[in-house]
Amino acid sequence: MAMAHGTRVQYEPVAEIGGGAYGTVYKARDTESGQFVALKSVRVQTDQNGLPSSTVREVALLRRLEQFDHPNVVRLMDVCATQRSDQETKVTLVFEHVDQDLKTYLERAPAPGLSPGRIKDLMKQLLCGLAFLHSNRVMHRDLKPENILVTSQGQVKLADFGLARIYSCHMALTPVVVTLWYRPPEVLLQSSYATPVDIWSTGCIFAEMFRRKPLFCGESEMDQLGKIFEVVGLPPEEEWPTDVTLSRKNFPPLMARPITDFVPEINEQGAQLLLKMLTFDPLKRISALNALEHLYFHDEETLIETKS
Ligand SMILES: Nc1ncnc2c1ncn2[C@@H]1O[C@H](COP(=O)(O)OP(=O)(O)O)[C@@H](O)[C@H]1O
Ligand SMILES: [Mg+2]
Repeated sequence: MAMAHGTRVQYEPVAEIGGGAYGTVYKARDTESGQFVALKSVRVQTDQNGLPSSTVREVALLRRLEQFDHPNVVRLMDVCATQRSDQETKVTLVFEHVDQDLKTYLERAPAPGLSPGRIKDLMKQLLCGLAFLHSNRVMHRDLKPENILVTSQGQVKLADFGLARIYSCHMALTPVVVTLWYRPPEVLLQSSYATPVDIWSTGCIFAEMFRRKPLFCGESEMDQLGKIFEVVGLPPEEEWPTDVTLSRKNFPPLMARPITDFVPEINEQGAQLLLKMLTFDPLKRISALNALEHLYFHDEETLIETKS
């Protein structure tokens, strides 16, 4: 990791773009190339051995992923470390600047919202990015519209992943409310989890693209689970994880309702795929690779629409 020397300012701040949970993200101009970049800084505690090994590992992982140059992952252009004091170092990640995130993109879409072809294209790119991360054994863990960037050409780029450990130190210190709306049941129940978490979140986002509002807007973990069961039904006892404290008996015995009651604009194949993503049991949930092979993406009619 390069240590900044402070002799020359390479990145000129232009504007604040994200008052994020873990620090501010700035839009800046790279004075060498003239390109816009997004700067994200995290403060990390240091001791006599320098940066914690978890930080070094996470940054190394991001740089290794960057080597693949995947089209659906935001480019990491540079990483700088600036020592602030004996106890603290500021690590700045320099990303390519992308015009907007998916939240803004959805808000800006004129009525009646995105076309089915556009949604299919966005979903395909989102799943390609995820399949790439998952094949490298990286889970995003916090997939939501704010963490998905969309270029002005409509290219999807995943952002805000891979720093879970650096963050968790910060999380304890920053009393921020993190949204529960995209969290899968296994996370809400504090059971063990893996890459299927991101597929659940993707399902929530898929539904939201049609609805133009979030699918499950819970206010607490319990409330979020309740809202999920109102749609997908209370899972059978056999599927309830055994390593959790919250009992299935806390919830009313709800039956699944047709997903088209909640996402009326979705087509039949889309509804089938959505249900495979919003599957309670993470072991039965569809994977990113299998989702890309789903009939929804083979449907000729809307593929033609995508190209027009
Ligand atoms: N490369 C980027 N280009 C443009 N905007 C970005 C970029 N990265 C992040 N943002 C904006 O800043 C916000 C916060 O960034 P993010 O990486 O998600 O940090 P946090 O950990 O604070 O959520 C994002 O939701 C997005 O709107
Ligand atoms: Mg974020």
